Amino acid sequence: EQDIFTYDPGFTSTGSCKSAITYIDGDEGVLLHRGYAIADLAENCEFLEVAYLILKGELPNPEQKAKFEKDIIRHSMLNEQINFFYRGFRRDAHPMAVMCGVVGAMAAFYHDSTDINDPHQRMIASYRLIAKMPTVTGWAYKYMQGQPFMYPQNGLSYAENFLHLMFATPCEQYKVSPVLAKAMDRILILHADHEQNASTSTVRLAGSSGANPFACIAAGIASLWGPAHGGANEAVLNMLGEIGSVERIPEFIKKAKDKDDPFRLMGFGHRVYKNYDPRAKIMQKTCHEVLDELGVQDEPLLKLAMELERIALEDDYFVSRKLFPNVDFYSGIIFRAMGIPTQMFTSLFALARTVGWIAQWNEMLTDPDQKIGRPRQLYVGEPQRAFIPLDKRA
Ligand code: SDX
Repeated sequence: EQDIFTYDPGFTSTGSCKSAITYIDGDEGVLLHRGYAIADLAENCEFLEVAYLILKGELPNPEQKAKFEKDIIRHSMLNEQINFFYRGFRRDAHPMAVMCGVVGAMAAFYHDSTDINDPHQRMIASYRLIAKMPTVTGWAYKYMQGQPFMYPQNGLSYAENFLHLMFATPCEQYKVSPVLAKAMDRILILHADHEQNASTSTVRLAGSSGANPFACIAAGIASLWGPAHGGANEAVLNMLGEIGSVERIPEFIKKAKDKDDPFRLMGFGHRVYKNYDPRAKIMQKTCHEVLDELGVQDEPLLKLAMELERIALEDDYFVSRKLFPNVDFYSGIIFRAMGIPTQMFTSLFALARTVGWIAQWNEMLTDPDQKIGRPRQLYVGEPQRAFIPLDKRA
């Protein structure tokens, strides 16, 4: 049985890969981007600095940071025709359905950045996707709300622009508080990349066939939507709403432990982390800062989440299985406090993860060993057998 973690070019065809972007030690709860600890990046950087690091491999110096920000901001507008594309959706369409459709359709608007063999076009597509995702996401929200679309403002930072696109209206400017802008920067950083998770592997597999970058990112959005993956932040809020009160927590802990009950504690557990997800700690701290800033410290959902975490982490079922809160456990409470509807939570995850997806896509295309993905299977079907004509079948 070949050890798939000993890198072997033959494995590139099964979806396993080598990468220099993100390192995770699940047992120790370590997460590094290009060698830098997530806590250092979340505490000290703006999102575009980390985007530059993940995409290019080094933290930008002041000149590189300023130029990258200018290039990204200048690409943040969408082709105006895309505006009409939204109108084909019902207003109550899930924003992830809208984002899948709109991002996939972007290949029809940006023909000069779909040739995956041209490094210059690859970089243009990468910048376009990073730059336009706040607009794509903000417009999905505005369409859902029945409000007019807002346009990006070049004088704002990436996080400020996103909050502007979400909450400003033609009648009233949205004054972005520095605390909320910093919190949004940090949340985007915490979601930017996470090694070969389901949606990133989807992007790599799609890209390995030579599909254009917009189609690959649309595929990543589709995979992230699942409640076991990026959809978990929305599922956590729905779960907390269903639990309703501290008194009902034991009932749901019991359900989560019952093998015959499909209910799982959303926001708990992880494919890789068998220790505390380092992002969850930072997210919890950010949650308290945002609620303090908004003057909603006694947010009932936060109290319920903290009590649920306390009880679960005293229960041997979760401790013995190393099931700790993950990045999704607190993010939804922050988003809700910011006035973002539950259905938009996974869209914000997709907005941030576009940086990781596009960096991994670029890395894959520059890997000389890379072949078209072809995950292996273990055949458990029928051995070859004689054909039975229709009139002879029982
Ligand atoms: C993300 O991969 C990534 O990097 C993803 C991500 C990223 O940044 O891209 O980190 C983002 O997807 C975070 C995860 C968000 N999902 C959720 O919070 C949904 C709830 N979590 C579970 O669905 C689950 O924990 C998974 C899907 C995350 C992991 O599932 P696994 O790998 O099947 O869990 P496991 O095999 O380690 O489970 C071991 C045991 C099993 O029970 P036993 O067979 O040993 O009796 O733990 C149980 C599982 O049934 N278990 C849970 C549980 N998670 C696992 N029981 C109750 N509640 C849970 N949440």
